[in-house]
Amino acid sequence: MDQFHNQVAVITGGASGIGLAMAQRFAAEGMRLVIADIEQSALDRALATLKAQGATVIAVRTDVSDVESVRNLAKITLDTFGGVHLLCNNAGVQVTGPTWMIPLSEWKWSLGVNVWGVIHGLHVFLPILLSQNAPAHIVNTASMAGLVSAPMMSCYSVTKHSVVTLSETLAMEMKQMGTSIGVSVLCPGFVQTALHESERNRPAAEPNEAEAISPEMRESLKQSVTALVTGGIQPADVAETVLQGVRENRLHILSHPEMIGLFESRARKIVGAAQRS
Ligand SMILES: NC(=O)c1ccc[n+]([C@@H]2O[C@H](COP(=O)([O-])OP(=O)(O)OC[C@H]3O[C@@H](n4cnc5c(N)ncnc54)[C@H](O)[C@@H]3O)[C@@H](O)[C@H]2O)c1
Repeated sequence: MDQFHNQVAVITGGASGIGLAMAQRFAAEGMRLVIADIEQSALDRALATLKAQGATVIAVRTDVSDVESVRNLAKITLDTFGGVHLLCNNAGVQVTGPTWMIPLSEWKWSLGVNVWGVIHGLHVFLPILLSQNAPAHIVNTASMAGLVSAPMMSCYSVTKHSVVTLSETLAMEMKQMGTSIGVSVLCPGFVQTALHESERNRPAAEPNEAEAISPEMRESLKQSVTALVTGGIQPADVAETVLQGVRENRLHILSHPEMIGLFESRARKIVGAAQRS
């Protein structure tokens, strides 16, 4: 996809951080926008900001973990703009902690938003994209955490590794079928967003759920994640890289190329294990 003017972009998690920055960057190309997010107040603010910047935009409150909500998003998009050309499955939350201590309700929440959210986006929107017989592109937001593993990060990394393989597989399928639909997976390192405050959207714990993580450990985990996220790059820089990646139909979009050594080191360990076998 290399023509953006007047084309329609749907961005989940579009009310904040990377999603909002992508919306702003795409608007500068003259795209028409649909921002979807679970947080109504953030959506209202983002809508006002984008309109003040001259964008043609609507906001649709959406819970990506609920397929009916994603179907509603698609319906409103088609009713309003008549098509979709760029789908960004970007909504995400971060849960950290020792693997065995993370409450099951948080595993379900994380998988629901970060994995099922992307699956729902593909399940609902891909048939629309295919039926249009026109160039289109999908960007799924994963993370560097989708390419490597780190302590305290299993609940997040499980979801982001899933998004990487989902995207790689889909890209092969789109090519094999001779479609004009490009697929990218965005794998950022740390970016200055509200990701470290993901718990603002966390559903209530399940009844009688034991709390294995002490308040002190939670606070310490939060401080570590906050330091990393607030020390990250600007969302606008990620959005610029995404636009270039879509233009060039790059499968892997890496906004932090300096972090690729982490992946190389993992790959070398696996290759080394094969050589010793
Ligand atoms: N910030 C980073 O350092 C970083 C690094 C790598 C990957 N990412 C990924 O980037 C994406 C965007 O996150 P961000 O960093 O901009 O954080 P953010 O918290 O600023 O934005 C995420 C948005 O997703 C929305 N959201 C949460 N649950 C939702 C749901 N069920 N349905 C719809 N929307 C929902 C939130 O309300 C929020 O507006 C996420 O997938 C995240 O995992 C972020």
